[in-house]
Amino acid sequence: MPLQTTTHIWHNGRLIRWEDANIHVMSHVVHYGSSVFEGIRCYQQPNGAGIFRLQEHMARLHDSAKIYRMPLPFTIDQLAEAVVDVVEANGVAPCYIRPIAFRGYGEIGVNPLRAPVEIYIANFPWGKYVPGNDGADVCVSSWSRLAPNTMPSLAKAGANYMNSQLIRMEAEINGYSEGIALDVNGYLSEGSGENLFVVRGGILYTTPLANSVLNGITRSSVLTIAKDLGIEVIEQSMPRELLYICDEAFFTGTAAEVTHLRSVDRITVGDGTMGPITRAIHDEFFALVNGTKPDRFNWLTPVEVKVPVTA
Ligand SMILES: Cc1ncc(COP(=O)(O)O)c(C=O)c1O
Repeated sequence: MPLQTTTHIWHNGRLIRWEDANIHVMSHVVHYGSSVFEGIRCYQQPNGAGIFRLQEHMARLHDSAKIYRMPLPFTIDQLAEAVVDVVEANGVAPCYIRPIAFRGYGEIGVNPLRAPVEIYIANFPWGKYVPGNDGADVCVSSWSRLAPNTMPSLAKAGANYMNSQLIRMEAEINGYSEGIALDVNGYLSEGSGENLFVVRGGILYTTPLANSVLNGITRSSVLTIAKDLGIEVIEQSMPRELLYICDEAFFTGTAAEVTHLRSVDRITVGDGTMGPITRAIHDEFFALVNGTKPDRFNWLTPVEVKVPVTA
């Protein structure tokens, strides 16, 4: 989808103009994929706007950087403050926020250790991510998710998204909204940019971190909401065919939010509509992020946005 520009981007501690946020073609990241990044949503609320789970996203950025031995010269708190600054400077809410840290210009060769680290934070309007208003029609991908001991799936690294791109392109070319990948052992893993949940017999299941999934912040929020609503939750490896016989299935993600699956491989999930457990979690999630219910888990960081723009 086309990128909508704003006016400012945060770079290494200061706000610069959107059009000045450029890098050299010989930067390490361009050649070797050496970036780690985040995707965060800021929601409009009745009395302002709030950034969803800002600290957790910045903690995950630090984790991703640590895995790749990339020293970040800003703390989690400083980066969280920077996000608030850039959102307020641009005056755009609701919006999507994209912090990215990468190995910059000055070294050639695979070894990133002596290449400088650059951090940028941008934000821009972004609406619905997974196509389909009455649920998503998805497929199981012919591509597997990242194998353990190859690319660490707990790092949200730019390079991981080459795998995601293969999954997403194949799905679109074959007429699906999204693809679900299996891990290298054939167990369900996740979508190209979403975690996966399945409901069967009133129990909510999701794939564990050991099945090559990103430790999704929406995933953890949904686990919290489900437990709070008294829904039994089990994290366990699952076979592909569970998707064909489950009662309900849905994706979670910052971009995808809570998106129910209408069909998998053209097999209808349940009766194709959003089932009661998905509905309960979906409605609770949106009530919390949109501020129609109090923020009882302390998930929102308020921002002063003076010029509201609808995404
Ligand atoms: C591969 C992958 N899995 C899962 C997710 C969901 O993670 P989160 O809820 O933190 O956005 C994302 C999105 O960031 C993703 O790219």
